[in-house]
Amino acid sequence: MSINDLKYVLNEVQGNSSYPLFSREEAEKAVSFHKSIPGYKPTPLAHLGKLAEYWGLKDFYVKDESYRFGLNAFKVLGGSYAVAKLLCERLDVDIADVDFDYLTSPEVHEKLGDITFITATDGNHGRGIAWAAEKLKQNAVIYMPKGAAAARVKSIEAHGATCHVTDLNYDDAVRLACEEAEKNGWYMVQDTAWEGYVDIPTWIMQGYMTMPYEAVEQLGDVKPTHVFLQAGVGAMAGAVLAFMSEVYGDEAPITAVVEPHSAACLYESAKAGDGKPHTVGGDLDTIMAGLACGEPNPIGWDILKKSARAFISCEDYLAGNGMRILSCPILGDDRIIAGESGPVGIGVLDLIMNDPNFTTIKEELGLGSDSVILMFNTEGNTDPVNFKEIVWYGKYLKRQ
Ligand SMILES: Cc1ncc(COP(=O)(O)O)c(C=O)c1O
Repeated sequence: MSINDLKYVLNEVQGNSSYPLFSREEAEKAVSFHKSIPGYKPTPLAHLGKLAEYWGLKDFYVKDESYRFGLNAFKVLGGSYAVAKLLCERLDVDIADVDFDYLTSPEVHEKLGDITFITATDGNHGRGIAWAAEKLKQNAVIYMPKGAAAARVKSIEAHGATCHVTDLNYDDAVRLACEEAEKNGWYMVQDTAWEGYVDIPTWIMQGYMTMPYEAVEQLGDVKPTHVFLQAGVGAMAGAVLAFMSEVYGDEAPITAVVEPHSAACLYESAKAGDGKPHTVGGDLDTIMAGLACGEPNPIGWDILKKSARAFISCEDYLAGNGMRILSCPILGDDRIIAGESGPVGIGVLDLIMNDPNFTTIKEELGLGSDSVILMFNTEGNTDPVNFKEIVWYGKYLKRQ
């Protein structure tokens, strides 16, 4: 193990930051829309008190998004909400006044005609868009970066979408999808933003707020002191952190953003220290496919740079450790099946709490016997071949 397995930048948190686009009211609109979808159920909040004790912490909770609408990841929360908002805009109605039944009705289809949604994805977001298009009896075209896992392609195609695996990295696949959208008059529903493209990614982030909204309700009187959020473009982390700031104000949990070394665009942006988002390029090669993004979402970055305390970049084996730790819990703790992009925060926290090389970050973050940690397992077993390799046969094991 080397000190370079985990690098971090500490960030000065600006107190009293508020994010009107991610207010409680906006979260409630998203929650209410999601509740209208048949089969809606809050995902479980797993409790791992024994693991917290082993680490020397007070308590540990993991919101388990592998249960989200049977789709194995949180992503559909954003895609479904953005598609719904898009239809509402075209229908000139307010999302607060309609529900899923109405939007999927033959009457609406007749009004709007045939629509094609297009996006680029590592898997989870595309599956959410394909699922939403299928429910609306509309079309979806999905572009994937090179090396996309066969199982992830299959689960997108299972919803009737057309899926192209490109030989591009994620960010270039996004550009290609954007060109196709323009050429064909399709709706680009992308989970990241750029100049002139902000409404849909904002709606996607608002849709993600259902996840922390449920978590806060499930926690009741328990107030988390720390949150670890894994990031690709940083939309999920931004949405969660904005909502936490709304709910807890000055007492918002200390937040650490976690990325893989090969795609650590938010870490690099924080390190640059000029307040601007910075890009990383290349293959973005990591087992955490959902986090393999080299260009920060500017909406997410604006929130993270004000409200996140630490930006962490780490080796892939820490995601492997997270998967194994959750899969084989200490007796009495809840068990969680996590895919590669879901549990990297657990691997990171395990390293910080166990390895004296990382005492400084432990102290800087104030991790100790009073700490109550909240994390989000954003993905279940979405690539069963790799899952077995990692969890059963020890691929990406911690190096001694
Ligand atoms: C499972 C999973 N977790 C986390 C993320 C990161 O989300 P974001 O790109 O908004 O940072 C993704 C993105 O695709 C994902 O699929």
